[in-house]
Amino acid sequence: MPAAHSVPVAESFPDWSARRCDQVERALHALLPPADAVPARLHEAMRYAVLGGGKRVRPLLVYSAGELVGAPEAALDAAACAVECIHAYSLVHDDMPCMDDDVLRRGKPTVHVAFGEANAMLVGDALQALAFAAIASARGHGVAAESVVDMTVALAAAAGSQGMAGGQAIDLDAVGQVLDRASLADMHQRKTGAMLSVSVLLGAACGQQAGGRASWLARYGHAVGLAFQVVDDILDVTGDAASLGKTAGKDADHGKPTYVSILGLDASRHLAAELLAQAREAVAALGPGAGRLGDIAELIVMRQS
Ligand code: IPE
Ligand code: IPE
Ligand code: MG
Ligand code: MG
Ligand code: MG
Repeated sequence: MPAAHSVPVAESFPDWSARRCDQVERALHALLPPADAVPARLHEAMRYAVLGGGKRVRPLLVYSAGELVGAPEAALDAAACAVECIHAYSLVHDDMPCMDDDVLRRGKPTVHVAFGEANAMLVGDALQALAFAAIASARGHGVAAESVVDMTVALAAAAGSQGMAGGQAIDLDAVGQVLDRASLADMHQRKTGAMLSVSVLLGAACGQQAGGRASWLARYGHAVGLAFQVVDDILDVTGDAASLGKTAGKDADHGKPTYVSILGLDASRHLAAELLAQAREAVAALGPGAGRLGDIAELIVMRQS
């Protein structure tokens, strides 16, 4: 068949996400110090924590928001690496015996099991620092210095004591308690939603001014950010270690207040569907270039792992 009149076929979401996951994997590989650089054990543990695992949902959000605003690829790589390094650090610390005390993560022994607790703590420290080095490097890749400063402040807020780290503190304090719905949503928005929301914001900030789209992007981030942890709570009850790559059933074992423990499974599923509808509404308002954000919202709510 002659190819002269071939019509370009839109890339499917699975192909797009596989390509983007591969892209962030290569960028992370280049960003992380080599495993034989001194101190080798720490660098080996950092690479173990970050490379070759995870769904890479936060980087996918960076890339899809960046596509919407025509952002330069190298800047998106920098932002994608930054959010994934913070996320990977949060998982390493979340799994430590002083927090959730988990032995399995991304289908492998957790970092403190494989490398010891002191190394796990240092892996988190070093990955957080590396994340800020990564976001700062967006300046050399076509993003104005002023925007990079704003992006750095936004990342710090999402990761810090009023964002992820603060949400984790609330999570630990809440063990054995029954939270009301507002407190539960607040905890989940901080510990998980903040990093998803900032991923959308950073991707958009790498490109032209989001302008009137900024508030829809924020609404989208808010909806998928909460949906992500609602679904995580559901999967902890309905999933198994083989598909999740982490221990199932641990929230109930540890007395964590979750959407499932407070509302039950059905109402939690209903809420996830409602949040997906909110995300879709934002995607529709953002226009045809936002299709990937819609795909990711579906992935977040429909996933089985
Ligand atoms: C798990 O995050 C921790 C939560 C914030 C619920 P992910 O489900 O994104 O973990 P990976 O990155 O795919 O391993
Ligand atoms: C963790 O929430 C949120 C983080 C900031 C890491 P969970 O404790 O529910 O995450 P999993 O279930 O261990 O992945
Ligand atoms: Mg936890
Ligand atoms: Mg945990
Ligand atoms: Mg969980």
